[in-house]
Amino acid sequence: MDHFDYQQGEIYVEGVPVTAIAEQVGTPFYCYSTETLVRHYNVFSDVFRGHDFLLCYALKANSNQAIIKSLANLGSGADVVSEGELRRALKAGIAAEKIVYSGVAKTQEEMAFALEKGILQFNIESEPELHQLSRVADGMGKVAAIAFRINPDVDARTHAKISTGKSENKFGIPWTSARAIYAKAAALPGIRVQGVDLHIGSQLTDLAPFEEAFGRIVTLIEELRADGHEISVLDLGGGLGIPYDQAAEKPPLPLEYGEMVKRIVGHLGCKIIIEPGRLLVGNAGILVSKVIFLKYGEKRKFLIIDAAMNDLIRPSMYEAYHEIVAVKDTGGPLSAYDVVGPVCETGDTFAVRRDLPGLETGDLVAIRSAGAYGAVMSSTYNTRRLIPEILVKGTEYAIVRPRPSYDDIIGLDKMPKWLD
Ligand code: LLP
Repeated sequence: MDHFDYQQGEIYVEGVPVTAIAEQVGTPFYCYSTETLVRHYNVFSDVFRGHDFLLCYALKANSNQAIIKSLANLGSGADVVSEGELRRALKAGIAAEKIVYSGVAKTQEEMAFALEKGILQFNIESEPELHQLSRVADGMGKVAAIAFRINPDVDARTHAKISTGKSENKFGIPWTSARAIYAKAAALPGIRVQGVDLHIGSQLTDLAPFEEAFGRIVTLIEELRADGHEISVLDLGGGLGIPYDQAAEKPPLPLEYGEMVKRIVGHLGCKIIIEPGRLLVGNAGILVSKVIFLKYGEKRKFLIIDAAMNDLIRPSMYEAYHEIVAVKDTGGPLSAYDVVGPVCETGDTFAVRRDLPGLETGDLVAIRSAGAYGAVMSSTYNTRRLIPEILVKGTEYAIVRPRPSYDDIIGLDKMPKWLD
């Protein structure tokens, strides 16, 4: 459920008409609903009420300061994967003790910064990374609390580019050799083993792969405890999918996911951490764009809009489906459009043969479910400016990232002295 509904024939974000924002900020822009964010956060925290539980929002899905702060105000922790994300989380007011640091390879500088801040946990993905953290922490006179990210060799049955829990993927420690690395870690200076971590992929629309993976982790935790390790934290990662295509997809509800988690791992007595990203922000955001032209090709009718692949890369990168709707519903007959951007690549296509009501130059469309992995993956390709982000709360809205000027972009380049 979200808060982008038609009222009097046009889309409102909570209490604000999209057209009013478009008039003020121009198009294209991202627009987020606070109410949707809050709702999604609360669903998870309600399921785990009474458990030792921490939701660590995966910042990579949307790291705008206003989004992080909205979640921080609800009590959220953070899952970060770089020093930059760690700085963003801290700046938005998330306490270091609520931050876990994931990622396949952290540099010495990143480790030192995180140790300095005193984060909750490093999720370690290889033996070289373990040894490096031990050296850095010991050298600083600190002790790093760690979990190993275990690769359970489970097929997440999602897009190949976002599947991470198979043995051929670069992520984690093979679950079959986990005990050996825990034994090594226990003997290292600057390291305190406290947990187990996993993340098998993103946009999972079925609970079965989670269940299989979590089942393997339960067995592993029992073995590790028998080996003498104190395992008090279980970080289950993120990955629960959202319905991009409302008509075709019915991913499990957070409530069902939460009940499953409690059933499979609840008895272990661990602090349970989850790292959802997409589920919190995906359906809390839309991308609003304007029709530049309609172009009648020999075989197709192209709706050329002012957003492009550099603003939202998911359709071209993952063949991702995003619902597209007219901001003002004319109620007229539908016809099939290829919805494309102006960038010079055929891949700059948001949808093929998509049924939409009659649209003309200047009309607005909304690309739905664009709150996650939208703005954060955007670029200035074709020297297009990054697009603004707007956050709505009730009848108020604010520009939480303005549109840069062309000078801002071009001014980043510096002439060498021999060309000046
Ligand atoms: N934890 C870890 C360690 C992760 O690598 C990820 C996502 C998450 C949590 C959050 O997963 P989520 O709950 O959002 O599924 N750009 C792609 C998705 C990449 C996901 C990468 N890791 C997309 O647009 O679909």
